[in-house]
Order: sequence, then structure tokens, then C-alpha cells
Amino acid sequence: MSQDSDFIFTDRFLNLKGQRVLITGAASGIGEAMAIRFADAGAECILLDIDGSGLEALASRLQAQGSTASVAKIDLERKSQIDAFWAGLSDESLPDILVNNAGVYALKDYLDIDETFLDSTLSINLNAIFWMCQHFIKRRLQKGGIIVNVSTIEAVLPFKKDLVAYGTSKAGVIALTRGLARDYGPHGFRINVILPGAIKTPSTKRLMKMAIQRFKVDLIKTGYDFQTRLAMGRWGVPDEVARVALFLASDLAAYVQGAVIPVDGGFLSS
Ligand SMILES: NC(=O)c1ccc[n+]([C@@H]2O[C@H](COP(=O)([O-])OP(=O)(O)OC[C@H]3O[C@@H](n4cnc5c(N)ncnc54)[C@H](O)[C@@H]3O)[C@@H](O)[C@H]2O)c1
Repeated sequence: MSQDSDFIFTDRFLNLKGQRVLITGAASGIGEAMAIRFADAGAECILLDIDGSGLEALASRLQAQGSTASVAKIDLERKSQIDAFWAGLSDESLPDILVNNAGVYALKDYLDIDETFLDSTLSINLNAIFWMCQHFIKRRLQKGGIIVNVSTIEAVLPFKKDLVAYGTSKAGVIALTRGLARDYGPHGFRINVILPGAIKTPSTKRLMKMAIQRFKVDLIKTGYDFQTRLAMGRWGVPDEVARVALFLASDLAAYVQGAVIPVDGGFLSS
């Protein structure tokens, strides 16, 4: 089906009716936009986050629009919770598409980082994706499936100070994606990674506000330099990342594998 090139409605490729998508970090920002976009394409959504009330609010919104959505309140820092979540899914209720979007902006001066901080950053930003992918692939080994991971521009071009642990965790997500794409492509898995940059979300707005309120001159200067690198001259909105995730999950991207795709208004290109 995905290899033909007849004239057909492009809509068909983007129609995810009958598909189930699991989106992590769905209660806020980019994840929330992804859920709305995937629901609009007809997918049934499993929304996962640590923020239970955010999840409920989004699920109600999607259900009010006629979509099917369920929620899973999970702390991705805890492997035991990830394992329990997958153990609770029957074979009939497995997702067809896995979007690993949840992440934390772990800011700390490199010299002040202790084991607890590093472990927590790596657990949420990298290990959780590692285990989520392992469960997904194990359970769907005979069927294949689609994974979209979320890393960051910081993983390939460290720009802001105090993000060494964050960048390290997110660079791992790129390596993980490419390794899995290589190993499991022949089993029918398509696996790609998005590198967002300069997307206005509750978290990035909070970080900007913090820099201004504390009048941290170096952070304000970095913010200014960052802004001037944006080839499009503006920040992006969460839905602009969600649209790329939808494309990667759809048959429009049928031959895209192991790709590292910046969605950053041209930050990495300038
Ligand atoms: N916004 C940007 O400009 C940007 C840039 C680069 C990368 N990213 C990446 O995009 C992703 C989404 O970012 P965002 O800006 O929308 O952030 P956000 O903070 O708005 O959303 C992140 C979501 O992840 C959830 N989460 C955090 N820790 C969790 C845990 N332990 N268990 C379960 N859920 C947890 C949060 O509750 C939240 O709902 C992140 O991985 C981030 O690193 C964003």
C-alpha cells in the first residue's frame, strides 16, 4: 500500500482512522498539540503524562470533539511504572504509533551537577524512551509500527549555558533512534527523531520569564543571540512540530527512516 504512486487523494495518507497513537508528555506544549493534531487525523489517542489534571482536561476536550482518548498518569522517571503500564495493555489495545515527546529542561551548571540530578535527567529524557521503545517493539515484533522520538537542537548544537546534562540525554535519543531504525527497519518499524527548537510552550515561556525577572544578563544575551539565529525570524508554535510528527507517522513518510529532522525555524541552518 505504501509503495504505490498512483494518483490518489493525499488526504488518504494522512488519515489515521483505525490507528492508535500513544503520546508521552501530552498534558502540555508540543505533546498537547500533537494529541490534537493526531485526533484530528482520526487516530485514537492514549495520552500519557505525570500531570493527571492536564491529561484529564485534554482528554475531555478531545472527547467533546468526538475523538477517542484515554489517559495514563505515569512518572516516566520510574521504570517500574513504565513496565506496569505496558503490562496492563492487552494485545488488542496496543498503540500502532508511539510518540516519545515527554522531557524536562534540566538546567544546572555542569560543576554543580550531582548523581541525583544526572540520574533524574537521563531517566526521564533518555532511559524512559529507551524502555518505551523496547516495550513497543517487543509487543509489536510481528506487526511493526511507527516511532517518533523528540530530541532537541541542543543535542547537535549546544547553545545555551547549563544544558550539558539535557544535551547529553537528548543526544542519546538521536543515537537510540538511529540504532533502532537500523535494527528494526527490516521488521517493519519506521523510527525517526524530531529536533525542535524555539517553540513557544509553557516551559520555554517560563524559562524566558525567569531569565528576564532575575535579570540574568548572560541568559538575556544568549536569548538575544538565539533569536537572531532563527532564519525565519520568529519562534514557532507547538502545532508546527505536531504537523511534522503527523507527517512522520503517516504514509506520506513511508520511506523515511532513521531521519533526524530539525523543526527550528532554520536555527541549525544559519
Ligand atoms: N519547546 C521547545 O522549544 C523545545 C525545544 C527542543 C526540544 N523540546 C522538547 O520537546 C518536548 C516537549 O517540550 P515542551 O516545550 O512542550 O515542554 P512542556 O514542559 O510544555 O511539556 C513536557 C511534558 O512532559 C511531561 N513530563 C515531564 N516529566 C515527566 C515524567 N517524569 N513523566 C511523565 N511526563 C513527564 C510534563 O508534565 C509536560 O506535560 C521535550 O522533550 C523537550 O525537551 C522542546
